[in-house]
Amino acid sequence: MTSGYSMHNILFNNGLLNNTMTLKPYHQLDCPDDLQKTISEKAIDFLKTKYDILNLTKPSLWNKLNTAEFIRAVPELLQYFNSLNLKLREVAFTICVSNENAGLHIDELPVTAKINFPILNTQDSLNLWYDVPKELMSQVNPIVNKFGAAFYNLGEVDLSQCQQIASVEVLKPVVFNSQLPHMIDMSRCKSFPRIVLTCMFFNEPVDFLKE
Ligand SMILES: [Fe+2]
Repeated sequence: MTSGYSMHNILFNNGLLNNTMTLKPYHQLDCPDDLQKTISEKAIDFLKTKYDILNLTKPSLWNKLNTAEFIRAVPELLQYFNSLNLKLREVAFTICVSNENAGLHIDELPVTAKINFPILNTQDSLNLWYDVPKELMSQVNPIVNKFGAAFYNLGEVDLSQCQQIASVEVLKPVVFNSQLPHMIDMSRCKSFPRIVLTCMFFNEPVDFLKE
């Protein structure tokens, strides 16, 4: 598995993406096993009570949380980020309940560096990043949401024409470059739901993504 890629692979013709060109797809962080276990267990308890996560059959992939409420339930997550000098702004969770992949996309701007924290059943699923050739990228229009933020749904792009540039099984927290095209490969996942916390910060951890 590699997180490296070369500049010539990143040939988007869209100026919005210029500032991400020198950043790696991901960086795996250290987190003591006992702390990670505590955070996961408390997060699962919260999500079970609040969202009935074990019984959802057709959930949205991406679900915003009330961050203050979540942090009251899982204060250890804030302590962990404080130890990295990161100021937490918002927490969401992604949930996958079957072997159906989450399709290729680029997240909404302006956030580039998020931290994905594994909560449940992340083994055997992969986050994959792809280099999409510029001629394919130019055929896709950004979707602008009601807040004016643009994102790219690349689910129709032919992956056989794209080069995979990185792959990671999220077993430890991972700083995640969300402005490079990425997807979740669920094909080998055996246990569901797969749940990951996605954390965003006032001071984005982009330095971890520099070579
Ligand atoms: Fe994403």
